[in-house]
Amino acid sequence: MNILLYRSDGQTSDWEAAFRAALPDAQVRTWIAGDAACDYAVIWAPPAELVARLQNVKAIFLMGAGVDAILKFGAALPPAPIIRLGDAGMGMQMAEYVTHAVLRYFRRFDDYERQARQGAWQPLPAHDKQDFTVGVLGLGQLGRSVIEALRPFGFPLRGWSRSPKTIAGVDCFDDLDAFLCGTRVLVCLLPLTPETNQLLDHARLSLLARGGVVINVARGAHIDDDALLALIRAGHLAGATLDVFRDEPPAPDHPYWGEPRVTITPHISALTLVPEAVRQIAAKMQALARGETVADMVDRTKGY
Ligand code: NAP
Ligand code: GLV
Repeated sequence: MNILLYRSDGQTSDWEAAFRAALPDAQVRTWIAGDAACDYAVIWAPPAELVARLQNVKAIFLMGAGVDAILKFGAALPPAPIIRLGDAGMGMQMAEYVTHAVLRYFRRFDDYERQARQGAWQPLPAHDKQDFTVGVLGLGQLGRSVIEALRPFGFPLRGWSRSPKTIAGVDCFDDLDAFLCGTRVLVCLLPLTPETNQLLDHARLSLLARGGVVINVARGAHIDDDALLALIRAGHLAGATLDVFRDEPPAPDHPYWGEPRVTITPHISALTLVPEAVRQIAAKMQALARGETVADMVDRTKGY
């Protein structure tokens, strides 16, 4: 078995070591320009030159959950199946990150952080939990993990997905506007597709409850940044916690940096954990070699 690795950040040495340990008979190497022949490519955010050289691979494995950075190549993609990571430790991390953010807003830590900077000792009225509906866009592997983590806290929960869902204790919507009306905390965990690009524009963000907050842990392009900032500055929204951005990092003069009601993290809400990822990918390679099907195959028609 011949495995070719590529990451846009060049950090492949731990992947090489983990694959050699998991599959001792495999030949494992990191891609250099001009190189190509392999059975399996394990990649993240590849350049067009590499994609063009993968026409004969048996499968392409992604080093993450999102598929936008590969599907953007459209017709130039090789015919081989594309297989993304399925959870691989990301569900727990997403649950931690989003739960922290929801509780921070619910218990007014954002307000108390600002007060403390001004030396103010002033208890504020508690938020009413029944007015703190959390709505999760995307009820896939990560959205479901977030819903389950929030469940014990008793917030009203709602979700929105492409196909209808029934989840105990969660109001599942197919009408997006109805979902947004009355949502106080909006969590975005959608894949980035032509349908979801710029989905959260001014009209839709305006439907959120007054004092609402946005937690975006999916992709920056889901949100109209100007609209989000305008609604925060107008006082309709109380703030946002953003882990992902249209350009990463945002330009030094991007208004998000200077807006105190926007919390920025550097795309760390759910990191790829190399040991878990390699365990999962190696097992899938062995299953494919036995002629079996594997989970987490990307559906090119749906775009995720
Ligand atoms: P997933 O299992 O494929 O789930 C995607 C969910 O979105 C599904 O419920 C799907 O509906 C729904 N959906 C897709 N298109 C839709 C549309 N047009 N309208 C309504 N719902 C739609 O994906 P996942 O593993 O949960 O990951 C979600 C995203 O998180 C990834 O694509 C990636 O961009 C992002 N991510 C971010 C980080 C980070 O560190 N920030 C880490 C990992 C992943 P159905 O259930 O009907 O199919
Ligand atoms: C990270 O953003 C991922 O999609 O895995």
